[in-house]
Amino acid sequence: MFKCSQAWKLWTVAAVLLTLLCMISAKIMITKVDYESNPNYLAMMVQVHNETEGSTVDVDCSLYLDVHQGISVNIDLDSKMDGEYMTMIGTSKELCSKEEGGIDPVVPLLNEELEKFGNLSLGCPYYKGSYRIRRFRMSDDHMLVKMVPPGEYIVKLDLKHQQENDTQKVQVFKLSFFYEIS
Ligand SMILES: *[C@@H]1O[C@H](CO)[C@@H](O)[C@H](O)[C@H]1NC(C)=O
Ligand SMILES: *[C@@H]1O[C@H](CO)[C@@H](O)[C@H](O)[C@H]1NC(C)=O
Ligand SMILES: *[C@@H]1O[C@H](CO)[C@@H](O)[C@H](O)[C@H]1NC(C)=O
Repeated sequence: MFKCSQAWKLWTVAAVLLTLLCMISAKIMITKVDYESNPNYLAMMVQVHNETEGSTVDVDCSLYLDVHQGISVNIDLDSKMDGEYMTMIGTSKELCSKEEGGIDPVVPLLNEELEKFGNLSLGCPYYKGSYRIRRFRMSDDHMLVKMVPPGEYIVKLDLKHQQENDTQKVQVFKLSFFYEIS
């Protein structure tokens, strides 16, 4: 009888601890950021802060010219499996296209988050000027975060521009976030 109620107490404590652990567990830590930008288009600075609830990101960007067409973005999510990164999701989108290009929800979802932290987003057109993001973080319960299990990842953003009468695309910027979800 005594033993039984002891065991029951232990289970209650374990259940409460487990619930607490789950509530505070989902955490995104950025371990590395790589970026390069084309100096004909812009200058960019990215800074990561480690905070207790996860990493946050500051971005400062100066755009040197107006761009209204020909911008495309490629977004890849790589996941580490058996010590190697493999692309899990890859999406590509024309950002200035008039016809609403398909059903890809990633860019609108990302823009919606970015706009909470500053005036830099992937929305076309782009006007010469300076833009910034402060203390950007993806909330733990955001769809894009909940979709992926704990592990090591890279998100790669690759922005390119194709001039009106040009057949070549030039790199505008490339940004890679290495991070861990725990
Ligand atoms: C942030 O924390 C991660 C994981 O603990 C570490 O690898 C990384 O170097 C830290 N970054 C900074 C900017 O302190
Ligand atoms: C974006 O926000 C920054 C900081 O608030 C401001 O200095 C800058 O002028 C804004 N850029 C544009 C194009 O409105
Ligand atoms: C592209 O070519 C068209 C037709 O040849 C021309 O009218 C237009 O000015 C060109 N645009 C640019 C940006 O060079």
